Amino acid sequence: MYHPALFKGMNVVVTGGGRGIGLEVARQFLDCGARVAVHMGRSIAADRPEILDLAVAEGRAFLAAADFLAAQGVESFADVVRSRFDGLDVLVNNAGTMVGRFAAESLSDEDYRTVVQLNQTSVVEMTRAMLPLLRKGTHPAIVNTVSISARTGGSAGSSIYSATKAFVATYSKALARELAADGIRVNCVSPGTIATDFHERYSSREKLEATRRTIPLGRLGTAEDCAPAYLFLAAHALSGYITGQVLEVNGGQLIC
Ligand SMILES: NC(=O)c1ccc[n+]([C@@H]2O[C@H](COP(=O)([O-])OP(=O)(O)OC[C@H]3O[C@@H](n4cnc5c(N)ncnc54)[C@H](OP(=O)(O)O)[C@@H]3O)[C@@H](O)[C@H]2O)c1
Repeated sequence: MYHPALFKGMNVVVTGGGRGIGLEVARQFLDCGARVAVHMGRSIAADRPEILDLAVAEGRAFLAAADFLAAQGVESFADVVRSRFDGLDVLVNNAGTMVGRFAAESLSDEDYRTVVQLNQTSVVEMTRAMLPLLRKGTHPAIVNTVSISARTGGSAGSSIYSATKAFVATYSKALARELAADGIRVNCVSPGTIATDFHERYSSREKLEATRRTIPLGRLGTAEDCAPAYLFLAAHALSGYITGQVLEVNGGQLIC
């Protein structure tokens, strides 16, 4: 764990912070002293860990739900953040998911639009909405979640999802150049195959076991494996000279 005061007094936004990788990222920022705006997708009322409710009760976090597929969904969450924070030090764009596995021939217009809106357009919208607050932050940083599939093309049926992650990786590199003059760093974390609800929905047990066998470190990743990479890229003291990069967290699944 990093120093418990690493993000003391800093304002952090984590999208998709209600479960999986985002939840662990939010938890670790809280453990390092940050005030965290935790975006939940559509599951704010569902079972959620006590840690979030405790942090809310202590005034260290607030939770807000927004469906990023709904009209004005991103803007409604951005409004809540603006009403609570005067400035923003760290934006983590993490909300996203595969939605489904779609063969190229049978992909419907609606499925295509859904995957792109959630994984690609919402990142652009959220970033645009938060830039005025980030400009008021201290050594501000954006950390975006991409995926190993951005580089490999992903597995069967994930072509559009994988392409949206490649979009976000390239968008982040372009933003890193554009925003450097404002002192805002932009980087990505690229998880490999991480054991979260994501694969409960989209991958069979057999497929996961076959993947596991290809991973040099011999196991699937966990949210706990991923979260420190976000904090590293967000912390000026640790990565102040790193921008426009993608940090792969995959147990050696992709080495090139
Ligand atoms: N697990 C992996 O192997 C893996 C690998 C590479 C990249 N990733 C990426 O890592 C990120 C987190 O994934 P995860 O593994 O933690 O999976 P997850 O448990 O499926 O989490 C997905 C997150 O996105 C949110 N989300 C989904 N639909 C949404 C919507 N319509 N509006 C707003 N938020 C929505 C979810 O919130 P609700 O549930 O509250 O709706 C949840 O917080 C995603 O960007 C994913 O693409 C995962």
